Amino acid sequence: NNLELQPMIDAHDLLKKFYHHLLVNTKEGQEAYDYLLNRGFSKEVIDKFEIGYSLNSWEFVKKFLAKRGFHPEIMDQAGLLVKKNETNEYFDRFRNRIMFPIHDHHGHVVAFSGRVLGNEQPKYLNSPETKLFNKSKLLYNFHQARVHIRKYQEAVLFEGFADVISAVESGVPNSIATMGTSLTEEQVKVLKRNVSDVIICYDSDQAGREATMRAAKILTKAGSKVKVAVIPDGLDPDDYIKKYGSEKFKQDVIGASVTLMSFKMQYYRKGKNLQDEGDRLKYIEEILKEIAVLESPVEQEMYVKQLSAEFSLSIEVLKDQLSRTERKSQ
Ligand code: CTP
Ligand code: MN
Ligand code: MN
Ligand code: MN
Ligand code: MN
Repeated sequence: NNLELQPMIDAHDLLKKFYHHLLVNTKEGQEAYDYLLNRGFSKEVIDKFEIGYSLNSWEFVKKFLAKRGFHPEIMDQAGLLVKKNETNEYFDRFRNRIMFPIHDHHGHVVAFSGRVLGNEQPKYLNSPETKLFNKSKLLYNFHQARVHIRKYQEAVLFEGFADVISAVESGVPNSIATMGTSLTEEQVKVLKRNVSDVIICYDSDQAGREATMRAAKILTKAGSKVKVAVIPDGLDPDDYIKKYGSEKFKQDVIGASVTLMSFKMQYYRKGKNLQDEGDRLKYIEEILKEIAVLESPVEQEMYVKQLSAEFSLSIEVLKDQLSRTERKSQ
């Protein structure tokens, strides 16, 4: 850690503790604390993830940090303060929000994400990219999950904070998240150094399904083995856990995660009527394309047989079509 970054790290660490104190011990934080408890987060998990609350003030953090000798220009570079246009005045970036500290992979807090208590936009306000915080390299909760990821030889990947926190509370400690953005090659590199098997457990909406396809592609390309835990009914993992409980989540979602090809079959079936000839042809073509990019001939053979059985097509015809598809995609 070089000299320039140390004050930024120290300020995040101090603020994290103070935000947490505000949430759990003060009248000002009571509404935010109640909001979290009403959403079903336990006091223990709120402590474990060091969740906090930022006051509804434009200059609380500014003064708090100045009093402790932190220079406002540097706190602006750290993303904690914001400079007013064309002035030397600074104000607090995070106001009246539930504060999620974001740790780097060593466990230092390098950023925050603040959630509104109601339905205003943006729902989450994040620290900007800084010398400490590179969102495309970090995985939320990796610093706590790593040891469990190594132990289980499996990581479970979510979209957001609430999903990870609920999953950990449910007894799935090898949980991490991409914080709403697409999984990047840099994040996959970090994962690959620790584990080969990844379960993707994204939100059950169209955006989540598309993000699953993209993430799976990057993971597969890096040589990871991907499974998909499918959440039903348009819920997200946190909603699901709150509605059906931890045991059902572990058994019926994580325990029932499917192979990537099964997920893709479900994905391409959506919105199609396989009784309709056109839809059926389209579906078979899409699946053949997916089979064509598989590395393993054994897997290819297996899925060709499956298609053959399902649509009463001869294996020869499907293989012929497959080799044309392979030639085209080369
Ligand atoms: N996100 C973000 N900024 C936003 C919206 C989302 O950074 N304006 C990130 C957050 O990391 C969030 C994740 O994307 O956790 C997933 O977004 P979404 O599914 O919309 O939020 P939830 O995590 O479900 O949040 P909550 O349950 O609190 O509503
Ligand atoms: Mn360190
Ligand atoms: Mn979502
Ligand atoms: Mn969600
Ligand atoms: Mn949610």
